Amino acid sequence: MTSRYRVEYALKQHRRDEFIEWLKGLLAVPFVLHAVKSNGITSVDEIKSTSEAKRRYAEILLDVEHMVNDYRNSMNTGRLSRLKQLVPNVGLFFTKLPLEKAFYIEDERRSISKRRLVAPSFNDIRVILNTAQILELGTNFHSSSTDDRLKLVTFDGDVTLYEDGHSMEKDSLIIPEIIQLLKKGLYIGIVTAAGYSNPSGDKYYARLKGLVDCVNESEELNDEQKSNILVMGGEANFLFRLQGNRLLFINPKDWILNEMSTWDPQSILETLDFGAKILTDLKIKLGLPALVIRKERGVGLVPEPGVELHREQLEEVVLTCDYKLREFPPACRITYCAFNGGSDVWIDIGDKSLGVKVLQKFLSTKECNVRPHNTLHVGDQFAAIGANDYRARLSGSTCWIANPEETKNCLKDLNVYIDQWATI
Ligand code: IMP
Ligand code: MG
Repeated sequence: MTSRYRVEYALKQHRRDEFIEWLKGLLAVPFVLHAVKSNGITSVDEIKSTSEAKRRYAEILLDVEHMVNDYRNSMNTGRLSRLKQLVPNVGLFFTKLPLEKAFYIEDERRSISKRRLVAPSFNDIRVILNTAQILELGTNFHSSSTDDRLKLVTFDGDVTLYEDGHSMEKDSLIIPEIIQLLKKGLYIGIVTAAGYSNPSGDKYYARLKGLVDCVNESEELNDEQKSNILVMGGEANFLFRLQGNRLLFINPKDWILNEMSTWDPQSILETLDFGAKILTDLKIKLGLPALVIRKERGVGLVPEPGVELHREQLEEVVLTCDYKLREFPPACRITYCAFNGGSDVWIDIGDKSLGVKVLQKFLSTKECNVRPHNTLHVGDQFAAIGANDYRARLSGSTCWIANPEETKNCLKDLNVYIDQWATI
């Protein structure tokens, strides 16, 4: 890679979600033309301008909804859809997205069309997309074909279920929502990068204690529903299933994917050695107050106790790791991911697309397949390179949340939509 290409590559890959940015551009037009400032105009004008802005925003989202459908239809034919033409890096959509409906819901909550000085933002659109995804999955839950239904909801750990570096306590408001999902017969997976190889499962129990204990003690759930909680740790390396009040280690031979079983142990070792060397060199070169930690299936650069690394330092480290590993032959023979965890940087063997796929394969039976359109992954790390939930997009539909509070809100909506449609 030439140095010029490297810089371009870093800038390009570093951009935030291209689809969201594109939508933001589309919604900026009605904001400029119709969301007129209220100073000096009457309240009648104010109402008119709100309803005009609302109508235009909704129209655009309906048009994009149709473009997503067209893109989904084009995928099996090889035809270049309009959406793919306009947003070349657009990801996969495993379900339809009712964007217009989702806009009306989020407009009520976020006053989007009533705002005069703040245009529809990246976050507004991220949340509209989440709501559309949840609406669709909630609606489909009662479809006559079980093949279309939501069957598996997976969660990232840090920032999604609990604050970064913390654990899930019994008073977490996410737990009652998860219990409702289990009661509806759904499988719950925690797909976390945190890699603890000890088969006792003690470390995962320590981080998920609140959830494990509440589910185990719940009088609303039967034993089968309770055992529908699984933990996939170290991206796609260590699988556990809830049994009583403990997490039972599942032997990899019972779940390993074909694409993983061909990885040669020497390539894994050499990738981790090379990763440790890159991280150590960067620590010295950038003068970082950090430690390099080696694990069985990962290597990380973590700040020294009491110190925080700057976002730019973490991003420099993760981008350097990524392009150096791309050119390292043993790493090219396996799957790895290098990501910025918010306060640290890790290079792990495997990634979350595999972690989610393992759960899909493990839970599938002859009668009931769990496939990407039956799966929802909720996580906080979706900003393309250097974000480890991003790869889960390859294996299922997703919700991109910003904190555990948003996770709770998404699950609350999901439970409400499923219940609403049950009564119609
Ligand atoms: P996640 O958000 O649940 O995927 O967890 C990511 C965080 O787990 C990282 O930012 C690290 O702080 C922590 N972690 C602990 N062990 C590991 C490991 O082996 N690989 C990657 N991350 C780890
Ligand atoms: Mg996270």
